[in-house]
Amino acid sequence: MKILAGKNILITGAGSGIGRLMAHYVADERANTALIDINGAAVAKTLEEVKSRNVKAIGYVCDISNRESVMDTLSKIKADFGPIDVLINNAGTVIGKSFFDLTIDEMQRTMNINYWGHMYFTKALIGEMIARNSGAIVNVASSSGLIGMPILSDYCASKFAEVGFSEALRRELKKFKHTGVKVTCVCPYVIDTGLFKGFKPLAMNPVIKAEDAACAIIKGLKKGKAYVMLPPLSIYGSMVLKLLPTPIFDWMLSISGGSVAMDSFTGRK
Ligand SMILES: NC(=O)c1ccc[n+]([C@@H]2O[C@H](COP(=O)([O-])OP(=O)(O)OC[C@H]3O[C@@H](n4cnc5c(N)ncnc54)[C@H](O)[C@@H]3O)[C@@H](O)[C@H]2O)c1
Repeated sequence: MKILAGKNILITGAGSGIGRLMAHYVADERANTALIDINGAAVAKTLEEVKSRNVKAIGYVCDISNRESVMDTLSKIKADFGPIDVLINNAGTVIGKSFFDLTIDEMQRTMNINYWGHMYFTKALIGEMIARNSGAIVNVASSSGLIGMPILSDYCASKFAEVGFSEALRRELKKFKHTGVKVTCVCPYVIDTGLFKGFKPLAMNPVIKAEDAACAIIKGLKKGKAYVMLPPLSIYGSMVLKLLPTPIFDWMLSISGGSVAMDSFTGRK
């Protein structure tokens, strides 16, 4: 989707971090935005910032892990905007506890937001995109959807699910010749939004700036890229390293700080 001007773009998790910045960037390109977040004050602030660019934008308070709340919000969005051209499944959460300390409820919550929340929107909107043979779905996963990391078992499970789903959906669209509908899967390493506050960066892997991440995602969307890996060299490099015998890869990850990276994690309160 080379030109975003006049397109209707729905962004979840638009109240903070890269969701907020992506809302700015697509509004700069004259796109209309439906902005969703569970945090009413945060989405109202993003809305104000986006509206100052003189484009159509509406904010919606919605818990994406609640299917009824999603369906209610989508019917309001349909009435306000008509068909959605681009869905950016971005809202996400991190708990940052050892598997031994996580409760089943906490694990389900992570899955309900990071995986099911994205699924509800995709399932509800893809039919219209297929009918028009035009549209784009951007799924913000993580490098934790490609490499399992300690103290992130629930998060990794949700992000591996997102990566697998994105890949399968992209191939399914191709199989049934719905070639006008693109799926972009985003796998970033740690970004400086505060979501991973306290994370100790791995050797030679500085934290990514939120502006750079948001900008790379919008570029990837416009090019219809299957993947946006951030930073590309480091993520593709670690996928190649995964081909090594497992004990060697585990050792390399450990000496680069992977086993202790989450020990000082505080995250969002
Ligand atoms: N920050 C990182 O280091 C990093 C790295 C890799 C992937 N990601 C992914 O990028 C995405 C955005 O992360 P971010 O760093 O901008 O985080 P952030 O915390 O700054 O923003 C996430 C937004 O999602 C909203 N949200 C959370 N739960 C919600 C729910 N149930 N319903 C609706 N909104 C909800 C929050 O209120 C918040 O505004 C997430 O999916 C995250 O997993 C982030």
